[in-house]
Amino acid sequence: MRAPALLALVLATVASSLDAQAPPAVREGRALRIGMIGAGAMGGPIGLGLAAAGHQVVFSSRNPGELLPLVQQAAPRATAAYSDAAAYFADVVILATPPVAFEQLGRDYGALMRGKIVIDISNPRLDREGPITNEWLARGTGVSMAEFFPGTRFVKALNTVAPRDFANPLRNGVRVGVPIASDDAEAARVVMQLVRDLGLDPVIAGPLARAKEFDRGTSIWETGASAQAIREALGIR
Ligand SMILES: NC(=O)c1ccc[n+]([C@@H]2O[C@H](COP(=O)([O-])OP(=O)(O)OC[C@H]3O[C@@H](n4cnc5c(N)ncnc54)[C@H](OP(=O)(O)O)[C@@H]3O)[C@@H](O)[C@H]2O)c1
Repeated sequence: MRAPALLALVLATVASSLDAQAPPAVREGRALRIGMIGAGAMGGPIGLGLAAAGHQVVFSSRNPGELLPLVQQAAPRATAAYSDAAAYFADVVILATPPVAFEQLGRDYGALMRGKIVIDISNPRLDREGPITNEWLARGTGVSMAEFFPGTRFVKALNTVAPRDFANPLRNGVRVGVPIASDDAEAARVVMQLVRDLGLDPVIAGPLARAKEFDRGTSIWETGASAQAIREALGIR
């Protein structure tokens, strides 16, 4: 074999073995820019999992200087910033702060999120959010929280899982399921793939109003239910 042909063969072999080692979202050409707003018990592992899958992540909070350990763990696919930068950078914003912050986040950064997929993982709590919690739960947190972020492609997902489910996505050998609700079918499909990237098993529940059926206190909320059990509970074939 002549030298240029041999070199081309070696380079092609190296490139294909590097491709094979690349994380799935990179290999499959679907890596997204993810803006984590909030990087605590839930936002931390979600961002780390998505970076490991090949997405580019900005972790944010009111104190981004404290997020260096997460950035180091997710290297080279993460940075830390204030929330406006995360919202600006993102294709997909993940709201991982307590919902008591949503009014302020919507007011200050909502314009930066317009037209983008915004995932709400929240579970309002009476002791933290106050009496408004009962009103939000009565209407369903999906439609209630979406009002703080008009013009976004709003998706409710990941509120039914606990931080430990990202480290161990199996319960009794069966993958933990994740119901997803949105009025934007294409956005729901994007989130479905992100849920798979996190090692969990997605179930599209239907429009945003159906999030009420998997809010806090329902039979499929933080019980480690499988996708099959979620389909049965929601009456989805
Ligand atoms: N923990 C669970 O088991 C669980 C399960 C499912 C869903 N959820 C939901 O997930 C969300 C996050 O819960 P968590 O347990 O991860 O809370 P957490 O550990 O207290 O983390 C909250 C994060 O949000 C940041 N933050 C708070 N207010 C902010 C603001 N105004 N602007 C920007 N960043 C802000 C905090 O950082 P700074 O204070 O430094 O800004 C922190 O990084 C909540 O909606 C919760 O209901 C939690």
